[in-house]
Amino acid sequence: MAILYVEENQMWVLRTRRSDYAFGVDSFGRLQHLHWGGKQGNISDFPHPDDLQKWVWEAQEGNSREEIMPWGGYAFTEPGLKMTFADGVRDLKLQYIQYEVEGDDKLILTLKDAREPLIVKLVYRVLEEYDLIERHVDIYNDGDKPVSLESVMGAVWHFPIHPDYRLSYLAGHWGAETQLLREPVLQGKKVLESRRGQTSHQCNPWFAIDFGEAVEESGEVYYGGVSFSGHWKITVERTPYQTLQINAGLNDFDFTWQLDPGEVFTSPICVGGYSNAGFGDASWNLHAYQKSELLQKSNELRPVLYNSWEATMFDVNEKSQMQLAEKAAAIGVELFVIDDGWFGQRNDDKVGLGDWYVNPVKFPDGLRPLIDRVQSLGMKFGIWVEPEMVNADSDLYRRHPEWIYHFPGRPFTEMRNQRVLNVAREDVQNYIFTFMDRLLTENDISFVKWDMNRNFTEPGWPERPHDKQKEIWVRHVQGLYSILRRLREKHPGVSFESCSGGGGRIDMGIMPYVEQFWTSDNTDPFDRLAIQEGYSYAYNTKAMMAWVTDVPNYVNGRTTTLRYRFHSAMMGSLGIGVDLNAFSTTELEEASAYIKQYKTIRETIQDGRLFRLMSPRSKLGTAVQYVNESRSQSALFVFLHAQRFRHPFMPVRLRGLDPEALYYSAELNEERSGRSLMTIGVRPDLKADYDSQLIVWNKKE
Ligand code: DGJ
Repeated sequence: MAILYVEENQMWVLRTRRSDYAFGVDSFGRLQHLHWGGKQGNISDFPHPDDLQKWVWEAQEGNSREEIMPWGGYAFTEPGLKMTFADGVRDLKLQYIQYEVEGDDKLILTLKDAREPLIVKLVYRVLEEYDLIERHVDIYNDGDKPVSLESVMGAVWHFPIHPDYRLSYLAGHWGAETQLLREPVLQGKKVLESRRGQTSHQCNPWFAIDFGEAVEESGEVYYGGVSFSGHWKITVERTPYQTLQINAGLNDFDFTWQLDPGEVFTSPICVGGYSNAGFGDASWNLHAYQKSELLQKSNELRPVLYNSWEATMFDVNEKSQMQLAEKAAAIGVELFVIDDGWFGQRNDDKVGLGDWYVNPVKFPDGLRPLIDRVQSLGMKFGIWVEPEMVNADSDLYRRHPEWIYHFPGRPFTEMRNQRVLNVAREDVQNYIFTFMDRLLTENDISFVKWDMNRNFTEPGWPERPHDKQKEIWVRHVQGLYSILRRLREKHPGVSFESCSGGGGRIDMGIMPYVEQFWTSDNTDPFDRLAIQEGYSYAYNTKAMMAWVTDVPNYVNGRTTTLRYRFHSAMMGSLGIGVDLNAFSTTELEEASAYIKQYKTIRETIQDGRLFRLMSPRSKLGTAVQYVNESRSQSALFVFLHAQRFRHPFMPVRLRGLDPEALYYSAELNEERSGRSLMTIGVRPDLKADYDSQLIVWNKKE
């Protein structure tokens, strides 16, 4: 049973396969956290809700570790909920009223302020199979005056008291997204957040806590994320008393939400998990959860796509795209995507965003001839859009200058010559839905790459009262989700990719509306190893797009072999972004052979279990292995970064195989038992700088 209620103690235990999460009502009526971690045998093993750790010179109330942590009374850690009532009172005391269980996995606890008719529901969903808990809060204003919400967290996570907390998180910048960072958590706060309007390249809404000793396959790891695509915040706070609290939810910076009488406000969903089997297991639980609960069409294999962005930039036209399409089909591409430049007067990034009609010079007869050609070649057709943006030099902006976020009469910060449409507005949402609906109705489009290339600045909405303008951070994201939801309902056959100047919008909030993510604009295959490693801690492999592009790579100027580029990109959902017109016959043949090989292992890669055997952060090299569910196939990718001192590459011990089975590798022309591969390992044959090898093992019948 996933949810256990113990009436005599007024406590609840949320049980997953390998964890218990418990809380109960204390004598102040508060919901006290009691335990998160390994499973307990008996109810008497849990502490009593009144049995709080005592600290010197703190009132009993100050020791509270509540499931919600409302700001009021003696609460000095980060609040889970902070608000102001209509009469100016800024104190909140939430007391337990009742609980209900929905289905066999959802627990809803109703709390009420000690004085005001303000109701807060804590909603838990237990994902037993994945050792995960989803949590969010619903706030109801049952009074007759508005209240002002100033800080709303979806979850407040408490951890066992331990001397050595260590935080893992994903940070970086454009072209260097999702880099894994690790540091000890000492007294004070560490804030992970986005204030940029979208999820951000700089920090990703995921965290993991361990006790300084967890590795890939062992150790206790707590982890989680915020399912929201902008203005999120995760605060990691170690108190003077060595307790650790993580608040996850909306960013309280520049945020207030006026909750009118009768209204309800829902926080983003936050996910939290516990593993006693290391970081690898933690990642795998998230991957499996995302596949089964969040991602669209996750039972289908992602097609090999071609995208000409790096090859042609804005210079797209019917003739050049048709030539590329013919070559793409010949090497085995299944989805042909035209990127930026097909619409309005879009000849560079200074003009045209917002004008979503087909450019008549580049495509004199519309998109139909190109789509027909692509389809006659056996491929599906996809298209790029950036619906939330506008160039000042566009018909849309000339018609509706008031549709962007701005403060009237103040200078405006430009970025990539574009401005952000106020998607919090319903008329803007309708405009976007209407042109997207028309585009998808008039053309046989199977795939949309939905881009978003700048951060919000001057986030004003002059038509709204001042006290309601700070809602834009949340309303924009809600507006975006609503447009995507409507589009998906009307065009169920279309797949979507979330892109934001690379990996600026990768998160679990947008997952239910998309099939995949553009991981990074940095397509350098060596840098990608680190970006992809970080990504893999939090997100599903199938959703991770990786392209093979031209050399020297435009980001780093690095030249690598086609083999190395393919191997790096084959570790996710494969895309091709090279200028196929400039490829020699030999290169086309080589590319075609890799795509053919990828198709024989893509199910294992996209749906299999991932093992991070050697980190790109190490000086030695990188090794990543994928194993399919039945353990009949394994694909091992190894990369040597730089040859030094003539050292041979270390043997790599595989994981997840059937020890009793025999496996055969065509690359090595070798037969080995699973046991031998997992205990003795394989010796990759790598030489010189940026060398790579893919070794596939198939179980012998
Ligand atoms: C940023 C994306 O990440 C690129 O892949 C490309 O689509 C450009 N935008 C187009 O402007």
